[in-house]
Amino acid sequence: MNLDSKQTEIGKQNFLTALGSLQGDFLRGALTAPAVGPYFFEYGTIDKPVKAGIVGTGNEGCQAMIEQSSPAYLEFIGYHDIRPSQIARGRRTFQKIYGTEEGDKVKFHEKWEDMLADKDIEAIVIATPLWTHKKFAIEAMEAGKHVLCEKLMAHSIAECKEMVRTSEKTGKILSIGHQRHYSPLYQLALKVVESGVLGDIRHVRALWHRNNTWTLSNPHRPDQPTMAAPDFGVSGDSWCPIVPTEDNSVNASAFGYKSPEELVRWRLYDRTGGGLMAELGSHQLDACSLFLGKVHPLRLLATGGKFFFEDNRECEDHVYCMYQMPGGVTLTYSTINTNTQEGYGEVVMGTRGTLCVMNERDVMLFKEREPGDTTIPEETYITVVTDPKGGKPVLKSTTSTALTAEAGLAKTAYERSVYFVPKGATAPTVNRGYFTEIEAFAFAIRNPDSYKVRCTGQVALADAVMALSANVSMRSKRPIEFKDSWYDPASEDAPETAPASVVKNA
Ligand SMILES: NC(=O)c1ccc[n+]([C@@H]2O[C@H](COP(=O)([O-])OP(=O)(O)OC[C@H]3O[C@@H](n4cnc5c(N)ncnc54)[C@H](O)[C@@H]3O)[C@@H](O)[C@H]2O)c1
Repeated sequence: MNLDSKQTEIGKQNFLTALGSLQGDFLRGALTAPAVGPYFFEYGTIDKPVKAGIVGTGNEGCQAMIEQSSPAYLEFIGYHDIRPSQIARGRRTFQKIYGTEEGDKVKFHEKWEDMLADKDIEAIVIATPLWTHKKFAIEAMEAGKHVLCEKLMAHSIAECKEMVRTSEKTGKILSIGHQRHYSPLYQLALKVVESGVLGDIRHVRALWHRNNTWTLSNPHRPDQPTMAAPDFGVSGDSWCPIVPTEDNSVNASAFGYKSPEELVRWRLYDRTGGGLMAELGSHQLDACSLFLGKVHPLRLLATGGKFFFEDNRECEDHVYCMYQMPGGVTLTYSTINTNTQEGYGEVVMGTRGTLCVMNERDVMLFKEREPGDTTIPEETYITVVTDPKGGKPVLKSTTSTALTAEAGLAKTAYERSVYFVPKGATAPTVNRGYFTEIEAFAFAIRNPDSYKVRCTGQVALADAVMALSANVSMRSKRPIEFKDSWYDPASEDAPETAPASVVKNA
């Protein structure tokens, strides 16, 4: 939603008002709980951290899986990667988290098989390109290790099913890294949606809009203006980074890559990545499925193409989808590379109100206009009227702009729950869910009979069906009817594999 700063403030305050009015007991508990992760996600402490190895110490491996891991729950004792630049980065990250001396003790395994053979390693974290997930996950589980594998679960539905079956066969935990399942921010937003205060929900609009067209040295679009892109150093397009000099020495073909360039820019190619829907869309579809109660879509129509970039990439740079969900709910999704307006998030629209989660940071609530009401929804403060007989709570307009006692309680609890200071950092940041996801994974390993991870292989399989079917619809230019058998790991049935060619400048 395009909101000015005043409307944003009103929306945030409204969310806190609703949260405080509807969830007072839960919030008081969040304020007094020794730690918010276990309180929100119902796990406890463990006596001995799980000893783990990680494969892939690139961006996600280092910045999320290692830097946002909790040493009391998961202790990395080994790692494996194949790019010299990222091997060195892995070492630096372990030093940052554990201190120089202890960080140096994390063993680098030049061969994946050697890490697998390490009997002390109980679990493997996988943060490698999409097309490798199945191999690493299955080999790890078959070697007796529990697995936390980054999203998207795998390159095809058939691969996802094989992973679920291996988890069932070996009895090893398979947890997939859709971190919103462990995000306190999403959990609080979900509590407001579940209260019924939005009325009947008929539409969810989700998006992830980025502008990757600003590049410092633009090999693809010399006609475009250039701008320094501090995040990526040399290229404004994070999917197309410069190949570090030292990585040119990798024998890429020994690991199944056509070149060091394909290894570094794996997201651009069909064989190694899954395009915008796998990388970005899967996050919003996962969040939407949480808001809608994990229902499966009925049908889908997607369109998109490679409309901007003129290099050899195979992935689309614009994708638009319409999913028909059960109960007359339509979910629309757009992910684009040429404009940042509205950022990323989900807007849940009901007959009585709208809940909006933006950029994994802000949650806002707006009341619908009532008959005779002349106020603008985005400029209206609300109160919540609860029904003592157990009916749905109702949003009402108020002229008071003051933070109520309940909203004040919600604000304090929200700040305690949603923000944390990562190890080695000085300023608080939003807990996007990694940290709690890793703690819950470790707790599930120690307590297999009493605790299950939230994003199991089966849950993530459903996310993959939604994301990968969009590629099929877009590339074949036809609607998709979803089948129950696509979600059944025992069935070989799956949406057809998307053809390799993208819809170019269609
Ligand atoms: N949950 C999230 O929000 C989120 C965010 C970003 C990325 N991810 C996921 O994390 C995974 C990694 O993404 P990234 O951004 O870190 O990519 P990246 O390219 O920065 O890192 C991948 C790492 O894997 C290594 N690698 C590649 N092939 C390998 C092989 N055969 N053996 C050993 N190492 C190998 C690479 O050298 C590199 O260091 C992807 O699945 C991606 O979708 C998740």
